[in-house]
Amino acid sequence: MRFSIFLLIFTSCILGVSGKSKLSKSLRIQATNVPVVVWHGMGDSCCNPLSMGAVKKLIEETVPGIYVKNLMLGDNVVADMEHGFFANMNDLVDEACQQIQKDPQLQGGYHAVGFSQGGLFVRALAQRCSNPPVKNLISIGGPHQGIFGLPYCIGDTVICDSIRHLLDWGAYIGLVQNHVVQAQYWHDPLNESAYQKKNIFLSDVNNEVTLNATYKANLLRLKNFLLVLFSDDEMVVPKESTWFGYYKPGTVSEVLPMNQTDLFLQDKIGIKKLYESNRLHFLTVKGRHLQISREVLVNEVINKYLK
Ligand SMILES: *[C@@H]1O[C@H](CO)[C@@H](O)[C@H](O)[C@H]1NC(C)=O
Ligand SMILES: *[C@@H]1O[C@H](CO)[C@@H](O)[C@H](O)[C@H]1NC(C)=O
Ligand SMILES: *[C@@H]1O[C@H](CO)[C@@H](O)[C@H](O)[C@H]1NC(C)=O
Repeated sequence: MRFSIFLLIFTSCILGVSGKSKLSKSLRIQATNVPVVVWHGMGDSCCNPLSMGAVKKLIEETVPGIYVKNLMLGDNVVADMEHGFFANMNDLVDEACQQIQKDPQLQGGYHAVGFSQGGLFVRALAQRCSNPPVKNLISIGGPHQGIFGLPYCIGDTVICDSIRHLLDWGAYIGLVQNHVVQAQYWHDPLNESAYQKKNIFLSDVNNEVTLNATYKANLLRLKNFLLVLFSDDEMVVPKESTWFGYYKPGTVSEVLPMNQTDLFLQDKIGIKKLYESNRLHFLTVKGRHLQISREVLVNEVINKYLK
């Protein structure tokens, strides 16, 4: 399949990466830095120098001596990117967990950063894979309550169109649900029961059907959980999903803020407790999906949560 155009367009919007960094020239190496694991978004791959490669570099420049691991799922970069579209997320979270458990540098725990759908996946990781533990969890535009609509799929590519068609055709049909990543966080507010019954990933991670106490206990071990929302997000619909808000069940005309959703009110996964203990943080970034500048990334994310 023709991924290259897609990759270029998608990644070029992420960061203005070409400028030379004027960041800290401090050479002081802090051996005590908590390492960082990064999970990329849809259409991206672990090692693209224009996107996650640049993020890794930026973190390394800002926090000298820090260990940053970009997750690569699959045997190579192309497989890694394909897995952003076609995979069973439960398997990928398992695979990520195994990679992390095998990495000697991560054994004392780590901070996890997820971009776009990666923001949801790092939360699943924190909930399901507690050893080693995640300390600070950072979600940059992650669809925590799912999405309903894929109105802006990057570029006019074969792959985007086919995913849109597949989701229109039936996100909850087994064939689609089990293989298309976006279907696994497709949340139809007009048919919550279909979502709860048929979804194989998000409804489980959000404890909507059965309540897995381990998920909640693990999330409550976090020191901090940062949720970044983009003011003009056109990928995550509704954008409030990145802050745990969602359409009021049965409608697409009203979006409930986090604190009016069942997820929060019944504290199904612990976000209410995290909120009440001042460990849940919200950041609005002006711009479209993943349009975050180096300055904001350094000042609001890296300096505050990765040091
Ligand atoms: C709850 O989640 C943990 C961690 O993923 C898992 O080991 C356990 O089997 C789950 N329990 C139930 C009842 O699903
Ligand atoms: C919800 O989806 C189920 C199939 O999973 C279907 O039987 C039912 O009619 C749908 N309900 C509505 C209101 O669309
Ligand atoms: C719910 O959150 C909104 C902001 O999203 C806030 O204005 C409101 O006061 C909160 N309500 C409660 C009951 O905490």
